Amino acid sequence: MKGTTLPIVLWAILGLVVITAAQEEERATVEPALARRAGTLILARCAVCHTTDLISQQRLTEERWTATVEKMVHWGADLSKDEAAVLLQYLTARYHPGAPDHLPSIENELAMTELPRGQTTATDGPLSGVAASGAGLYRHNCQACHGEGAVGGAGPKLARNTILKNDGAFWETVLHGRGPMPAWGSVLSHQEIADIHAWLTTR
Ligand code: HEC
Ligand code: HEC
Repeated sequence: MKGTTLPIVLWAILGLVVITAAQEEERATVEPALARRAGTLILARCAVCHTTDLISQQRLTEERWTATVEKMVHWGADLSKDEAAVLLQYLTARYHPGAPDHLPSIENELAMTELPRGQTTATDGPLSGVAASGAGLYRHNCQACHGEGAVGGAGPKLARNTILKNDGAFWETVLHGRGPMPAWGSVLSHQEIADIHAWLTTR
């Protein structure tokens, strides 16, 4: 008897080790750049209506994620086709039926994949922003938290905010984020951020 049970126990242990290793590798299967982009999109476009936990608790197949994202867009989530594709790629890679029960919150995932400070800086030289382009970019990416017309909301009022005259502080906050404010350095180009800045100064 002993001779047959031992290998079974060994196989069981080996199996567990393999499963644990697979869980450790989970994160490695999602490119940090994809995780940053998708996490930022979730904060800016999904967290407007409900907590991000409602998303990270799910373990869905690609088909069900596709249906869920379509439903959310139908209900009012502001996503372009390209953005929906990025989001789906991330959601199906990270929150699939075989994923571990406990994964860090999306806010923590974002913090863990953040670019090291200094890696993206406004070194493109002084950019002149185009306010007309900034209006739409603001509406898509910032309005959910900073309010229509930048009058404030979950995030501070940006219209007539003194930070608009302090280039260093403005770029540092927008590129790298601060507290609940997501980092935009890997999502928006410097030109796009300059456009948003230009539009904000017209408020
Ligand atoms: C306009 C509001 C709104 C936006 C924006 C929104 N959702 Fe939802 N979402 C809801 C409501 C309402 C529910 C169902 C109510 C509940 O369970 O709290 C829900 C439920 C969910 C659920 C739970 C499963 C289900 O099908 O009910 C998931 C997952 C989800 N949303 C994902 C997302 C994602 C991903 C985004 C961003 C692309 C998003 N939501 C944006 C309103 C929204
Ligand atoms: C998910 C919500 C959210 C989104 C989306 C968001 N912000 Fe913020 N933002 C915040 C919060 C919250 C703060 C305050 C951070 C703090 O308390 O440290 C903030 C702070 C800021 C500040 C500093 C204001 C000050 O008085 O110091 C600037 C500038 C800013 N955001 C610009 C932007 C821009 C530009 C965008 C769009 C590209 C954007 N934010 C998108 C939530 C958000």
